[in-house]
Amino acid sequence: MTLPNEDGVAAWLRYGELPASVRTAANSAAVDTIVVLGDHNGKSPVTVAGQELTDGFRNILGRTVTIVNNLSAASGTTIIIGTLSDYKATGQAVNNDASPFLSHEDGYWLDTTSDKHLVLGSNERAVLYGAFDYLSRLAQGTFSAFTFGSRPSAPIRWINQWDNMDGSIERGYGGKSLFFTDGRIVDNLERVRQYARLMASIGLNGIVINNVNANASLLGEDNLNNGVRRIADIMRPYGVRTGLALNFDAPRTLGGLETSDPLDAGVVKFWEDVTKRVYAAVPDLIGYTIKANSEGQPGPLSYGRTLAEGANMLAKPLEPYGGLVLYRAFVYDHHLSEADPKNDRANAAVDFFTHLDEQFAENVVVQIKFGPIDFQVREPPSPLLARLKKTRAAIEFMVAQEYMGQQSHAVYLAPEWQEILAFDMRVNGQQSLVRDILTTDKGPFTWSTTGYTAVVNVGNDSTWLGHHLAMANLYAYGRLAWRPSDDAKDILEDWIRLTFGVDPTVVSAISSLLMDSWPAYEGHSGNLGVQTLCDILYTHYGPSPASQDGNGWGQWTRADSQGIGMDRSVATGTGNAGQYHPEVATVWEDISKTPDNLLLWFHHVPYTHVLKSGKTVIQHFYDAHYEGAATVQTFPQRWASLKGKVDDARFEHIAFKLAYQAGHAIVWRDSVCRFYQTMSGIEDDQKRVNNHKWRIPLAAPSPNVVLVGYEPVAVRLPEAASDGKAVQTTGETGSVKTTLDVEDGTYDLAVNYFDTLVGRAKYELLLNDKSVGKWEGNLQDRLGHDFSEYLDGHSATRIYFRGVVLKKGDVLTIVGRAGGKEKAPLDYISVLPEGEVD
Ligand code: GCU
Repeated sequence: MTLPNEDGVAAWLRYGELPASVRTAANSAAVDTIVVLGDHNGKSPVTVAGQELTDGFRNILGRTVTIVNNLSAASGTTIIIGTLSDYKATGQAVNNDASPFLSHEDGYWLDTTSDKHLVLGSNERAVLYGAFDYLSRLAQGTFSAFTFGSRPSAPIRWINQWDNMDGSIERGYGGKSLFFTDGRIVDNLERVRQYARLMASIGLNGIVINNVNANASLLGEDNLNNGVRRIADIMRPYGVRTGLALNFDAPRTLGGLETSDPLDAGVVKFWEDVTKRVYAAVPDLIGYTIKANSEGQPGPLSYGRTLAEGANMLAKPLEPYGGLVLYRAFVYDHHLSEADPKNDRANAAVDFFTHLDEQFAENVVVQIKFGPIDFQVREPPSPLLARLKKTRAAIEFMVAQEYMGQQSHAVYLAPEWQEILAFDMRVNGQQSLVRDILTTDKGPFTWSTTGYTAVVNVGNDSTWLGHHLAMANLYAYGRLAWRPSDDAKDILEDWIRLTFGVDPTVVSAISSLLMDSWPAYEGHSGNLGVQTLCDILYTHYGPSPASQDGNGWGQWTRADSQGIGMDRSVATGTGNAGQYHPEVATVWEDISKTPDNLLLWFHHVPYTHVLKSGKTVIQHFYDAHYEGAATVQTFPQRWASLKGKVDDARFEHIAFKLAYQAGHAIVWRDSVCRFYQTMSGIEDDQKRVNNHKWRIPLAAPSPNVVLVGYEPVAVRLPEAASDGKAVQTTGETGSVKTTLDVEDGTYDLAVNYFDTLVGRAKYELLLNDKSVGKWEGNLQDRLGHDFSEYLDGHSATRIYFRGVVLKKGDVLTIVGRAGGKEKAPLDYISVLPEGEVD
């Protein structure tokens, strides 16, 4: 049977039909009626819950279920849904086990042990959370007679969209904004409604809709009343509240004042007026998020005021409405001098915030990125998470894969988040897991509010994030914000069953692939705690180890010919290790105690330093890059095993991306290994680096490579191509010809070329003048990451032609045709015996 094609819009809420083969009486609730308790209009989450359950039964089990409004109208097996108070009003009581959940904000209780199933919530949106949980079990075929209560770990479970008013999305790789276009709010908000539905299904309850690099024009009358109001209205039935990111300078730029000084009476008045207008449009606004004194953004420090004075100025007008200020701790100087060995951006959050701990208003929450730098492939938890006692804090994750393959690579991030959340910060020598710090009823600080935020870059692409597999990250974020002790793999497998169906072959293949993806990415993109070695001065995408150092951004590795790593010890370095509580600090202070995976985060060592594993740092680099890239080479084949088990549309989309990822992982591996081999002068003991048996570099002078209308050209980052050079056409077209010296047999041909933003070149590969295949340099139309205009590690890519029969003396030709400014650039051809990667 051919599976119907899916575009991904329904994501994990597609309610696929439960296959007859796995249906049992126990997992197929034979419900006839749903009783929706209470007096609700179509805008209540309780009404939505009833509708979701009806849709779910129809799609999952093919069962028609009728909605009624009172118990006496119910017949047969019934689901009773409603808030605790509406349930009590019917004269019923709940059992004691339910109380801890139903007395907690957003908590719910499910009971399916009799023919009156209960889906009860402590409030309206909790009823919806309960309904989604019920449906998740039904859709996964795990439904049974059970009682189950759940309550979230924290009240703040938000998303930060980085959407701009012009419709672009900062670090967006999945299309245009769902919220904004041409300076205003889009007319059709149907996708926003669907987004709210997805959010509710994983327990998320708030969304800040605009970029933290905020454009104050959002606060204009028309945008508020005809725009933000509509967004809030459409999300409200899903229990999702709206928030706004502010620009600190709005009093000047929007209000026409001379200053944005937080202590200026006119500025105070400006924000009071804004807040009044905002709440008139959105009475249940969750509040404001603010990025200030960071990366060129203005802030209180620009006026000689403290960060607390800035935050409190915004908090005050919000207070009567119960709104919060999420004040981002991402405050740092991006013009730091690397010449001073004491300088360290990782120190900034603690340096800027801890001394103000007593000074923030009650409704300010400091929003802290999970690590001290910026969503790198490996970071320790931010020390600030354990340093604010009185001031409430929330953690910030990033579902957007800015430094993690930008959704052109499949990388499942939840295992990294899980490690952060499970880390013991040892406040006052007591167990203080990050996830316990971030709850209101446990941990060292017992804050009145706290929780989770994540940067999410869903766009108008039908896949939301540009890659079907990236949606596992959004799903996992919601699940972890709700219950941070859940296991990343269990969460993933729930997501797979909901997204691709319950076939165990499918579940185990996707689960193992995605569980391998973060370790593989760390392997080939920057290991031992050195950070993601991407180009931090340009797209943040492909490899450029050199870009880390020699600039003011402070994402330094301090690599030179002798050694690598940031000395963050107190004794000889920046003192960052000392920002942690003593039991943690002693581990990171001491090279012999620091785990290998954070060694270079905390210490500067010679390349020949021997790790706990027994390898030297440099050899570990080579091996990890080769192993990481080798794992990624297995992804396309592992995915191919699912042909026919996943609908063709999603199968092909993912197959294409995984094939691209495999090629780009090789670019990563080669670039980083070449860079450090050159830098350290120490060879890989397996002699793999720059030693490619099967490759024919096209720019190297060789009697065996004949260029016609093609010429060598330097690439922007020399390590991104063989010998630092590529070839490109001199005019419109050209050809590259090589005569093969191979044993007769069947080979895979790989062509490494560059696909840039500046055009769409065309290529054809010919064997003895017969076409083997054609392709176009149009990845910018097919992948979502930030494209480069240069020949470099972002644009370098690979295409395969497999199973080609060759004999000695055969002639391979590539004919290139420039497209726009892209001059059909090529790096090398690999002639690979089957099974070889090179
Ligand atoms: C990163 C990112 C920026 C973003 C910033 C932030 O530096 O590259 O695009 O604005 O984080 O979190 O504010």
